[in-house]
Amino acid sequence: MEKELKKEQIGQLILQAMGARKKAYAPYSHYHVGAALLSTQDRVYPGCNIENASYGATICAERVAFFRAVQEGERSFTAIAIVGGEEDYAYPCGMCRQVMREFCNEDFRIIVAKNTEEYQIFSLGELFPHGFGPEKLVR
Ligand code: THU
Repeated sequence: MEKELKKEQIGQLILQAMGARKKAYAPYSHYHVGAALLSTQDRVYPGCNIENASYGATICAERVAFFRAVQEGERSFTAIAIVGGEEDYAYPCGMCRQVMREFCNEDFRIIVAKNTEEYQIFSLGELFPHGFGPEKLVR
């Protein structure tokens, strides 16, 4: 582990994910998701899910957060907080785990939260073992 997250930092990240969730555009599923991605530079990139009438063009909150960060020049990340419904945990979908695998190592922290008190923390290695990553293609 490079950087251990403090409880206060985790709470702040969850609050920012909850703030991002307010912007969710989800007229089809009505399932609102918010994410907050923490870079190793200690900057936070929020994201919400943005749906589309074609359904297939929908993008998840996590990937919005990642793509915003990469567009800003960030390539190195410590953790992401994800909030979905208040009653259940919103685990990241397979496609988002693949995007995390592109930019993060197995120690990257994935915080799935109901609120600032109820959350679970996983490593990317736990949620996406034996993934296909960029190192396979680098020559
Ligand atoms: N969704 C996310 O934003 N993140 C996930 O990891 C799972 C699913 C969104 C996509 C869609 O807008 C809605 O939740 C229902 O699938």
